[in-house]
Parts: sequence; structure tokens; C-alpha cells
Amino acid sequence: MSDTLESDPPIVEGKPSPFAVPAGCFALSVREVQHYTDRLFRFRVSRPREFRFRSGEFVMIGLPNAEKPVFRAYSIASPAWDEELEFFSIKVPDGPLTEHLQKIREGDTILMRKKPTGTLVNDALEPGKRLWMFSTGTGIAPFASLIRDPETYDKFGTLILTHGCRLVDELKYGQDLVAALREDPLIGELVEGRLIHYPTVTREPFEHQGRITDLITSGKLFEDLGLSRMGPEDDRAMICGSMAMLKDTKELCLSHGLEEGANNKPAQFVVERAFVD
Ligand SMILES: Cc1cc2nc3c(=O)[nH]c(=O)nc-3n(C[C@H](O)[C@H](O)[C@H](O)COP(=O)(O)OP(=O)(O)OC[C@H]3O[C@@H](n4cnc5c(N)ncnc54)[C@H](O)[C@@H]3O)c2cc1C
Ligand SMILES: NC(=O)c1ccc[n+]([C@@H]2O[C@H](COP(=O)([O-])OP(=O)(O)OC[C@H]3O[C@@H](n4cnc5c(N)ncnc54)[C@H](OP(=O)(O)O)[C@@H]3O)[C@@H](O)[C@H]2O)c1
Repeated sequence: MSDTLESDPPIVEGKPSPFAVPAGCFALSVREVQHYTDRLFRFRVSRPREFRFRSGEFVMIGLPNAEKPVFRAYSIASPAWDEELEFFSIKVPDGPLTEHLQKIREGDTILMRKKPTGTLVNDALEPGKRLWMFSTGTGIAPFASLIRDPETYDKFGTLILTHGCRLVDELKYGQDLVAALREDPLIGELVEGRLIHYPTVTREPFEHQGRITDLITSGKLFEDLGLSRMGPEDDRAMICGSMAMLKDTKELCLSHGLEEGANNKPAQFVVERAFVD
């Protein structure tokens, strides 16, 4: 297959773009767009048959709207087996990429560099009884991929996905995803009793409230779930959020005796930024 020049020329906001697709990029066709809030949306694009990645990895994406387009890192939110690629995105006011990306519609073209990478992959962890996935904001994206991959359930007994947001509306992507997964004819049975979802909100009332770090420190997270505290024997963790969230959650993993791993040295927890502050 070629570089999947599905539309020639590429389409931006429903119109042909005067700019060519840069070398080393796939040109992918937008299949679906769903907006959640004025800050968050999800979109799905076509997937080139030759594009391979591991669930949890990220890629660089851009738009064919300039001679030298702006590229930004994006976690692939769909699992490695999916025929399409899904992304979950922020809308930053005046953000060089997202002020345009938030306007994409079905049939538009997005650019994707060919090489996926990242540390939030099953290979970077030793097997364990429980896998804790700690996320805030769009940091849920790599976990949206991993919780849909049967390989994750082969490696870990129970998956606990925590998602911290400021507002209740910001949880919807994760809530819809987990509900759909439980109903899924292929993976629903595998997930049954093995995927725990713990959404929490910090700036308005909700069933679970407070920063995930505070809930770990106080022990409330473990009490709410009826689970023992984390320890190096049974537990593995992946962390994705802002720099401050990564730093604080990483310290908590270390204080619970977990050791940081990497692709070339699997251990007990791994971290990745959800954005650059
Ligand atoms: C490894 C990695 C993976 C990433 N995966 C995703 C992803 O799956 N989805 C996604 O929306 N973004 C993701 N990002 C962030 C993304 O690369 C861009 O920063 C984002 O799309 C905004 O681009 P921009 O050009 O509009 O603004 P930028 O100039 O990139 O950002 C401007 C400011 O907006 C804020 N900001 C940027 N991204 C976010 C965010 N995601 N959440 C909250 N605040 C943010 C920061 O304060 C930043 O300084 C990822 C970043 C990294 C490093
Ligand atoms: N969400 C919004 O409505 C909103 C609106 C306008 C602009 N912004 C801007 O967008 C950027 C990102 O906002 P965001 O809401 O996506 O991400 P965020 O600020 O990282 O917050 C997401 C969640 O993570 C929590 N959190 C923050 N620091 C943490 C830490 N060290 N440890 C554990 N949890 C932590 C937050 O709790 P706290 O609430 O306690 O911080 C919140 O529940 C910020 O620069 C913000 O100013 C956000």
C-alpha cells in the first residue's frame, strides 16, 4: 500500500487544501467526530493497513493546512486490533494545532507521522495481579486503548482505571467507553469482573471526589474499592497526566515500594505526560 493518499488533494474543513501531504506522513480520512464539552472531543480516522502500533503508544498528528504543518503528540485511544484509529483531544483556545483540529469534520484529512512510540505499553511492565491506570484529563487516552486490548487481560488479573477531572461532564468519554466495553460481544465477557472504573471529580459534587493522589494517600481509594493498598508483589501501575500529577503519583508509587520501568527494562510502574505544561 502507498502512503494512503485517500483524498488527493487533502481536505481541510470540507474543502481541498492547496498544500501537499508532507513526506513521511500518512494522510488519513476523518470518519467520525464527537464533541463532549467546549474543551474535549473525540475523533476516529481511517487506519493504513501497514501501520502497526502497540496499544498505549502515541503518534505525531497534524493538519494539511500549511506548507509546514504543526505536529503534536497524541495517544492512540483505540486498541492495536482496531480497523480505525481513535483520538481523544483537548481544545486549547488559540492552541496552534487544536484551534484548527477542533473544527474537523467527517471526510476531512489529518496527517500522521509514521512512527508510534511510548512507555505506557504492556511490554514495559512485569506481569502482575492488578494493573492500576492513573489518569487525569485527556491522560485517559492511552488507557482507552489498553483496556480494549485482550493482551492487557492476559498479563494482569484486574485492571483499575482511575480518571480524575475537574468537572463531571469531562468524565463522559471514559464513562461511555467503559459502558460500551461491558456490552461488547467480543471483549465484554473478558472484561466482566476484571475491569474496575473509578472516576473522580475535584471541582463539583460527584460520587467520588478529590485528587487521585489524595485518595491514595488517605487510603479512601482502596476502601471504596474494597482492595488492599498497592505493593510491589501484586501491583503494577501506569500514570498519565500533567507534570504535577505525574510527579505526585510517581512519588506515591515509589513510597508503596514499586520500581519504575521502561521498554528496555520492564519493572512495576511507568509514566507518560498527557501534555507539555
Ligand atoms: C506524549 C504526549 C501525548 C499526548 N497525547 C494527547 C492526547 O491524546 N490528547 C490530547 O488532547 N493531547 C495530547 N497531548 C498534548 C498535545 O500534544 C498538544 O499539546 C495538544 O493537542 C494541544 O496542542 P496545541 O498546539 O493546540 O497547543 P499547545 O501549544 O501544544 O499547548 C498549549 C497549552 O495547552 C495546555 N494543554 C495542551 N494539551 C493539553 C491537554 N491534553 N490537556 C490539558 N491541557 C493541555 C498546556 O498548558 C499547554 O502548554 C499529548 C502530549 C504528549 C507529550
Ligand atoms: N478543566 C477546565 O474546566 C479548564 C477550563 C479552562 C482552562 N483550563 C486549563 O487547562 C489546563 C489543563 O486543565 P485540565 O482540567 O484538563 O487538567 P488539570 O489541571 O491537570 O486537571 C485535571 C484533574 O487533575 C487534577 N490534578 C491536578 N494536579 C494534580 C496533581 N498534582 N495530582 C493529582 N491530581 C491533580 C485536577 O484537580 P484540581 O481541580 O484539584 O486541580 C483535576 O481534577 C490547565 O492549564 C487549566 O488552567 C481548564
